Amino acid sequence: MSADAAARAAELRAQIARHDYRYYVLDDPEVPDAEYDRLMLELRELERAHPQLISPDSPTQRVAGAPSTAFGEVVHQVPMLSLDNAFREDDVAAFDRRIHERLGLSGELDYVAEPKLDGLAVTVIYHAGRLERAATRGDGVTGEDVTANVRTIRAVPQRLTAGAPPVLEVRGEVFMDLKGFERMNAQARARDERVYVNPRNAAAGSLRQLDPRITATRPLRAFFYGVGVVEGMALPDSQHALLARLRELGLPVTPETRTVRGVAGCLEYYRALGERRSRLPYQIDGVVYKLDGRADQERLGFLSRSPRWAIAHKFPAEEALTVVRAVEFQVGRTGALTPVASLEPVFVGGVTVTNVTLHNIDEVRRKDVRVGDTVTVRRAGDVIPQVVGVLAERRAPGAEPVELPARCPVCGSAVLRLEGEAAARCTGGFSCRAQRQEALRHFASRRALDIEGLGDKVIAQLIEQDMVRSPADLFRLSAAQLTELERLGEKSAANLVAAIARGKRTTLPRLLYALGIRDVGEATALALARHFGTLERLLQADVAAIQQVPDVGPVVAAHVAAFFASPDHRAVLEDLQRQGVSWPDMPAPAAERPLAGRTFVLTGTLQSLTREAAAEALTARGAKIAGSVSKKTSYLVAGADAGSKLARAQALGIPVLDEAALLKLLGAE
Ligand code: IVH
Repeated sequence: MSADAAARAAELRAQIARHDYRYYVLDDPEVPDAEYDRLMLELRELERAHPQLISPDSPTQRVAGAPSTAFGEVVHQVPMLSLDNAFREDDVAAFDRRIHERLGLSGELDYVAEPKLDGLAVTVIYHAGRLERAATRGDGVTGEDVTANVRTIRAVPQRLTAGAPPVLEVRGEVFMDLKGFERMNAQARARDERVYVNPRNAAAGSLRQLDPRITATRPLRAFFYGVGVVEGMALPDSQHALLARLRELGLPVTPETRTVRGVAGCLEYYRALGERRSRLPYQIDGVVYKLDGRADQERLGFLSRSPRWAIAHKFPAEEALTVVRAVEFQVGRTGALTPVASLEPVFVGGVTVTNVTLHNIDEVRRKDVRVGDTVTVRRAGDVIPQVVGVLAERRAPGAEPVELPARCPVCGSAVLRLEGEAAARCTGGFSCRAQRQEALRHFASRRALDIEGLGDKVIAQLIEQDMVRSPADLFRLSAAQLTELERLGEKSAANLVAAIARGKRTTLPRLLYALGIRDVGEATALALARHFGTLERLLQADVAAIQQVPDVGPVVAAHVAAFFASPDHRAVLEDLQRQGVSWPDMPAPAAERPLAGRTFVLTGTLQSLTREAAAEALTARGAKIAGSVSKKTSYLVAGADAGSKLARAQALGIPVLDEAALLKLLGAE
């Protein structure tokens, strides 16, 4: 019995180790998570029934040991070095040149290019293939003993595969991938617990928990890229062969690593990885180039804190610290007040950021951003900059929370926040200069009337100087008036007048979108235009009729109806048309043109309607009317006393409709 149990336990451990390897090293899991959990459960139960079977490297023992009050110290027998940094391409060229000079070599050298993982460095010592000790880098000479915590990381094998040397110390990075980070923070938020500002801090915080049971719940991963003490194994003679060896031993190695040639190869890798950076499942802050040949590495040796044969080429930082100078509320087109933090300018993600939106007052409260606070600002890829969080410990005493203003900062009207809405709004409508300005900007924008050259600066001046109060006023502007504006020469003024005139010829969907009706985006504008076909019909529609439009619900229908019920808005529409703004009617939708593509010929005398009326009724349904019968005729409508056309249609085998059939077709029967 016990022998069976021992065999089963060994089998389960081997299976679990293989699944960990497939998942973390090969990134190619073989079984769903549930199956993995099932194996673990079985092993746990087996060990509970036969405690003598428990071995320290059993996967169930990843979480063992009691919480400690402090970490022990580990002195690194081989110091854990850091890397010199390159920020520009020139720095990389200089690095390569120094190597050539020191080695007295010419010709291009091979480098291994690796992502610079944004986590924390660890060293893990295996004795006879068993995980013995793990430590943080610390100051490079002495680190903290985090063995119990590292054992909880499933990506770090408890045992290496067969063929492991008596002593092998491997070095790499412990990190948290983005998905795990988001999931963990979401859970923490739900429980009202502390959230981490970025995956790096989360990884560091998780690894440095005194209670390994907490570390075990954190989604930590690891990749290895180097070695420390090695006994009983010849070191491979290149970095790329070393990585392959680590992988063979069952250790996770990043799949992004490449061998490249010369500076050009390094830079190409840098650009390509930089391109993909925001799509990688984890954060990286640069790439590391390592001279591939180990003999050459050894000849080059080290500077005080970093090897001469490797360098970190950094990407522009995606996060930076800065100070909030003010929080202002901007008023948008629909009156929504958006809090915007004005910052000490900071270079992040490749641009200088001075303002960042805080979205709405709830967000300000949630992040508790206050004037004078030091904040982390993040700009990744082309995503708009965000305030990630506040460094609470740097808050000045007496800093007050940001309050939602009771009055519009632009026009002084009351600010109202409706139940269930994120946004607080200025109630001033078009009496508010900010709302007029945003409405005009929207009206002229590319997807609306598309008035080229009507930029923000010009719009601001037009509103400021009251030259434009309603969008229709735009079409009254003369080149002479426009030249009075700052920064607008005669030529640009003339161009702008021409562009405004071009904007007069538009389409109904564009016009409806341009009006800036609440909740009417491009898609809704198009649906409204299609449904009603003409502005006149839309103006006559009530809420119930508007709700008939596909995808228009009661709220949007109410906004649309209220907009067109306003005498001011009707006056603006009339004024626009008087100024020559025009658009073609919309073609009726296919559903209302059941006879599209059919050609009819009418002949003889009809009883209940004239031939003209019949023709009109047919064309209204999309049909075409022809004067004579040909092979292309779809139907001949024959009334009384039909003559040669009937004979010809019969000869060609074209279907003939009598008056009753016609009426049925028209749905008039
Ligand atoms: S090699 C002697 N390779 O960067 C070589 N380091 O700035 C020492 N890091 O402490 C390190 N990814 O935490 C190396 N592919 C990589 C790396 C990497 C991230 C970190 C590591 C190190 C720091 C040095």
